[in-house]
Amino acid sequence: MGASASTTRQRILLDCDPGHDDAAAMVVAAHYGDLVGVTTVGGNAPLADVTTNALLTAQIFGIDVDVHPGCDRPLVAEPLNAPEVHGVSGFAGPSLPTLERTASTVGAIEYIIETIRAEDGLWLVPTGPLTNIAMVIRRAPDVVDRVAGISFMGGSAEGGNRTAAAEFNALVDPEAVKVVVDCGARIVMSGLDLTRQFVVDDRLADDLAALGSTGALVFADLIRAYLDKAEERGLPRRGGLHDPCAVLAVTHPEAIERTARPVDVELGGRLTRGMTVVDRRPPANAAGRSSTDRRDANVEHCHTLDHDRCRQLFLDAVAALGSAS
Ligand code: BDR
Ligand code: CA
Repeated sequence: MGASASTTRQRILLDCDPGHDDAAAMVVAAHYGDLVGVTTVGGNAPLADVTTNALLTAQIFGIDVDVHPGCDRPLVAEPLNAPEVHGVSGFAGPSLPTLERTASTVGAIEYIIETIRAEDGLWLVPTGPLTNIAMVIRRAPDVVDRVAGISFMGGSAEGGNRTAAAEFNALVDPEAVKVVVDCGARIVMSGLDLTRQFVVDDRLADDLAALGSTGALVFADLIRAYLDKAEERGLPRRGGLHDPCAVLAVTHPEAIERTARPVDVELGGRLTRGMTVVDRRPPANAAGRSSTDRRDANVEHCHTLDHDRCRQLFLDAVAALGSAS
């Protein structure tokens, strides 16, 4: 365990679509938690690419974990990728080693259900569209009572990134978000309003490069490419390192403040499909109102992040695992 990790080492199933920040989430989960398995879902790039990227991340950082491919398209919507953010492959930037690992022949849905039924108390940490997780909940509703919780990166309480209203993961599969936030498990949400507080900039890339290991240099290049892509779109060379936040909300809860709140997702809406509606009104404000005016709190909405701590935790994780290849 890393020196500054929480005392309880959580057991984690990471469901991801690497993606630069998903790779960061995997390294953080492997260092501060017990990373039991990795599953992939089409999102930042098509399923085959994100599965390759997950295998490469495990290989580069010496993470001994199987990777199980999941859904290649959302429950209802057409597939949507993010080449303008992560490149066509999902992993624009570094020169990458030849892939030596292969994906498991057991698919993500089957793997997640079997693993949760075999061991109570696992954390599910999705950092891509929630398609796989919704499929699991629909097919095996008993998993809801077996997991410790579901800590996801997605949504926002303050507007979107892919559209004015919707964050990318939530926009890709809003129907899946609805299944997850309504499922009754403990749900922890790290949306853009939180994850933009974890600053990714050239200084972070420089600090990674200074670590000098193969893995650290790969991350430095990933981050520079991510910032280059932002600059190409006319944005500042500064953004959020989104996905590790959903892991840190589990492994280092003291670094991320949250409040129980009602959260729902817009499934219609000409302009607002995929928007997560986080009700930040004080409960007293809704006293006496009907249930259509206010739902009960169903989500722990993460809203405040200890930036310096999270940044250092990420650097320490890369320093610890980056020399593996
Ligand atoms: C989310 O979208 C993806 O591009 C990132 O990997 C992250 O999961 C941020 O909106
Ligand atoms: Ca992601």
